[in-house]
Amino acid sequence: MQQDAIATIAELIDGKGGRQYGLSSINQRAHALQAALLAEQAGCDLPLIVAALVHDIGHMVHGLGEDPAEDGIDDHHEDLGAAWLAGRFGPAVTEPVRLHVAAKRYLCGKEPEYFGRLSPDSVRSLALQGGPMSTAEIAAFEALPHYAEAVRLRRFDEGAKVKGLATPDVTHYVPHIRACLT
Ligand SMILES: [Fe+2]
Ligand SMILES: [Fe+2]
Repeated sequence: MQQDAIATIAELIDGKGGRQYGLSSINQRAHALQAALLAEQAGCDLPLIVAALVHDIGHMVHGLGEDPAEDGIDDHHEDLGAAWLAGRFGPAVTEPVRLHVAAKRYLCGKEPEYFGRLSPDSVRSLALQGGPMSTAEIAAFEALPHYAEAVRLRRFDEGAKVKGLATPDVTHYVPHIRACLT
């Protein structure tokens, strides 16, 4: 069972990961591996490294095509991904994944200069996702368990769009995944 989950995750990232990542010049696979590497380099706990690796897996399990935001569609990939992961991992993995889009809205509301650093595809999807959080939404977000991990994940997400950056491949993360499977 564990082996099945590991193989399925590795296949999704390696196989479907060849799709372009939104407007970025890198693909989903490189984006996932760069996010995981940033989390690892930052000394994060295993669940957050795994969450970084699989944070966009919702894009890989839906049938909405390569870039639904281009057509003005919010694919809710954070909810799809968290639901897909929920049978396999606990909340330390699934909650940062579920909240990583909200964390972008949070950071844009909390740190106005953060908006200026967003990549073009993040700016485009932000509008579809509800724009920056209001003060009340920020307070509600900060009351959620795992919100801080979601914010950390969000920063790795935004940094994981570097064309040509060398990373370990997905097999490097198999022990991390195995340690976090429930
Ligand atoms: Fe995402
Ligand atoms: Fe992402």
